[in-house]
Amino acid sequence: MTADDGVLTKLVEHFSLHDRDCQKHQDEIFTRMRTEAPVSHSVEHGGFYAVSRYRDVYEAAHKPELFSSFPVTIPPFGNPTPMIPIESDPPMHRKYRTLVGARFSPKSVEALEPHMREMVRTVIDGLVGKKDADLAKEVAIPLPLRGILELYLGVPEKDWEKLKDEFLYMLQPDPESTDEENLERSMAAGLNCTMYFAEMLDHLRTNGYGDDLISHLDQAELDGERLTDDEIYGFCLVLVPAGFDTTASVLSRLLLMFAEQPEVRDRLERIVDDPEKLDLAVEELIRFMPPQPGVARNVTEPCEFAGQQLDEGDRLLLLWPSANRDPEEFPDPDELVFDRQPNRHLGFGSGIHRCLGSHLARLELKTLLKEFLHRVPRYRVAPGKEAVWHTGNTWGVKTVPVVFDEWPEP
Ligand code: HEM
Repeated sequence: MTADDGVLTKLVEHFSLHDRDCQKHQDEIFTRMRTEAPVSHSVEHGGFYAVSRYRDVYEAAHKPELFSSFPVTIPPFGNPTPMIPIESDPPMHRKYRTLVGARFSPKSVEALEPHMREMVRTVIDGLVGKKDADLAKEVAIPLPLRGILELYLGVPEKDWEKLKDEFLYMLQPDPESTDEENLERSMAAGLNCTMYFAEMLDHLRTNGYGDDLISHLDQAELDGERLTDDEIYGFCLVLVPAGFDTTASVLSRLLLMFAEQPEVRDRLERIVDDPEKLDLAVEELIRFMPPQPGVARNVTEPCEFAGQQLDEGDRLLLLWPSANRDPEEFPDPDELVFDRQPNRHLGFGSGIHRCLGSHLARLELKTLLKEFLHRVPRYRVAPGKEAVWHTGNTWGVKTVPVVFDEWPEP
């Protein structure tokens, strides 16, 4: 359903990532912004500018001195110190990133492939033979959650659910609540997560370090100094949600798409066993439905940007999904072109904050597709039920209720 002109104008003026109508009409809103007001003002959350054209989003992401990343969300989470590395600016940003970069490099991630395949198989084994399932709760969320908590942070399985729920309070504010209520909820969740990691750190220091990233951070040095506890919590508060909620949102959208547009599944089935074609297809999926709808930047000195005069303290929201559909950069931007080349999408961001976990996310997506498309029969949205989308700092589907066709004989 398309929005009429007056409704669209209002949605642009009141644009918010937390608004269901903005999410529902995103294609029309972004087209309107790109063509009529590429740096458009929204009065929501205290006022900010939404940046929608590819070239402007790219440029803003490459000016970290002028556009600070702290805080990186609109409205902010309310954390008093920056989350690391996503909210840190130069020169500290590079130092922090160097501390963890090697663990997320293509080579390190490639070494995780056998483990990842095993994890994917376990997730799909859990579906086999079922008549119905919720593919968000049973596939899209548990796989990346386990990826970051087990493979990187060494968090015991008994705590996965609890941590997931706390982080979702922070990332997916309730659109029916006020900013103040959501801020309170997210600050409480942030505190609970910090306390959790404080206990974990304590345990590691008392009982001996492991090969996990938290142990690594506690022993690492920056300019000859050990990290403070707050810096270590700052890393954890980014790595967990960045590591699972983004990938979970792409997966949930894709698994829903297989039910609603089976021809997308047909096309992927034809290429899934060709590694080069699969690589291109995964990039195109990230272009087409980037799970992170936007990040904030904060103006550090008066300047003019894309024809808009900005003052110190003004906030920008960089809209990755809008940039990724800009016809000036992508021919046929609204088509899923699985062999698109070149594909300089911004789904993983750009500049110094470009996604640290992009190789891990790609591995999760490709490993899942290879196993899922061979083993899981066709399915459709369960009659009488519907998929439930979430808004917030990621856009994805939190419930994908489906019924399966016959499972193949084992
Ligand atoms: C499909 C999945 C993913 C997408 C689309 C995605 C997207 C993004 C984007 C757009 C940014 C840039 C934020 C900015 O400019 O402020 C980013 C940063 C980041 N991502 Fe991802 N992400 C994904 C998966 C992951 C995973 C699996 C991890 C694992 C830990 C991760 C960790 C991070 C971190 C730590 C940053 C901050 C990097 C920095 O500030 O230097 N992401 N991601």
